Amino acid sequence: MRKQFLYLLPIMAITMACSSHPDEAFRSMYHHTPPAKWMNDPNGMFYQNGVWHLYYQHNPFGTTWGPMHWAHATSTDLLTWEEQSIVLYPDSLGTIFSGSAVIDTDNTAGFGKGAIIAIYTQSEVCGQNQSIAYSLDGGYTFTPYEANPVLKGDVPDFRDPKVSRDGDHWLMTLACGQEIRFFRSADLKQWTYLSSFGEGYGNHNGVWECPELIKMGDRFVLLVSINPGGPFGGSATQYFVGDWDGTHFTCMDKPETQKWLDYGKDNYSTFTFHNAPEHRLVAIGWMSNWQYAQQLPTKAFRSQNTIARDLSLYQDDHGDYRIASMPSKETLSVRGRETKHLPATAVVDIEINGNQDACLTLSNDQGEKLIMTFDARQQTFSMDRTAAGDCSFSQDFAATTTAPIFVAHETHHITLFIDRCSIEVFGTNGEWTMTNLVFPSKPYNRLDAQGGKVTIYTCQIND
Ligand code: FRU
Repeated sequence: MRKQFLYLLPIMAITMACSSHPDEAFRSMYHHTPPAKWMNDPNGMFYQNGVWHLYYQHNPFGTTWGPMHWAHATSTDLLTWEEQSIVLYPDSLGTIFSGSAVIDTDNTAGFGKGAIIAIYTQSEVCGQNQSIAYSLDGGYTFTPYEANPVLKGDVPDFRDPKVSRDGDHWLMTLACGQEIRFFRSADLKQWTYLSSFGEGYGNHNGVWECPELIKMGDRFVLLVSINPGGPFGGSATQYFVGDWDGTHFTCMDKPETQKWLDYGKDNYSTFTFHNAPEHRLVAIGWMSNWQYAQQLPTKAFRSQNTIARDLSLYQDDHGDYRIASMPSKETLSVRGRETKHLPATAVVDIEINGNQDACLTLSNDQGEKLIMTFDARQQTFSMDRTAAGDCSFSQDFAATTTAPIFVAHETHHITLFIDRCSIEVFGTNGEWTMTNLVFPSKPYNRLDAQGGKVTIYTCQIND
């Protein structure tokens, strides 16, 4: 008996030390985080039989970027995630960079009816090529195709294939330097070049990455992540609205137009889920920025993903098409009881008069403050995180970000999703969004609003 007790003691001590580890104070409650080590882009997301599959760029050996693998997590509610085994490991063709996955319902690739096919970049010293792997157990284990790679690079940055069905064939969008190339295939193995888009359009102050062509209503939208070059420094996701004729993408906007998916510093490499229910466009982005992602003040794990958002297209007050991002309906169920006091994690609904300035301040007992202002004359919403918590780890972290408001409203309905180290702001109807990380030394426990009607909800997920 005594012997058994002594044996258990060290295990208990380790468990207690882990749960009180300071890192865990920043472990998001309802966002996906890797259990340990490094994460960047979400990859290969698909939905099947009630399960959302999320793969992600992962270095299992450390908390900074390194030899990349595809790790895997699943969810049935888009709020809680179950970690699965790593599915793709570096091999003689290179490490495993970003990419996508599709369900091969008609067995076009010949690996089996309904096989899940992952299409991803393999990066090696001499360049970047595209490979595929197949899964016959619904995405839990994958076998790389023996004749990889299926598409060889001819420029140094040649990566991040996003594949979708386009009529009777597969379509791939691929980032190649500072343009996006389109390829088609009947079997996911042989790819034929169709066209390129990008020269002279949008922002070119960085490398183009993680593209996706999405049909939204009767238009097509091309998402392109860029790093650096974002409106507030570092990484951000721009997009182009236009048409797709099966071969070429034509942008409707003037070449110099820059449209951004998010007006914060921390929403990058956004992709949508393949096969989402009801033809919804459900997207998740990496909630970080390459400027400081590897210096964030957590040590056991690094990075988190945004909450899931449903994308759609709307016309602003000038008739311009823009993307609206709404919190996916599943994520709204995190709203619990209405409360007067701000819990560490919360969802906050705010109504502000469209003709009057407003100021919202989140603060804690340490005097740390995150200040949000609505400027009625300029019609902008800003977030200042310079005094919101720890900014010391990178000179690029302290910042104020500003969203232009594209549609005038009598009353703006704004929703804040507050988690332990992030704030996601959704403007009226998702017409603009702002995603920013914050590292307060104690959770915010006050919300002061000047000029706003505020409803605070607790989060149902237990902390
Ligand atoms: C974007 C990115 C991708 C690449 C991956 C490597 O964050 O640079 O272009 O595939 O990360 O981890």
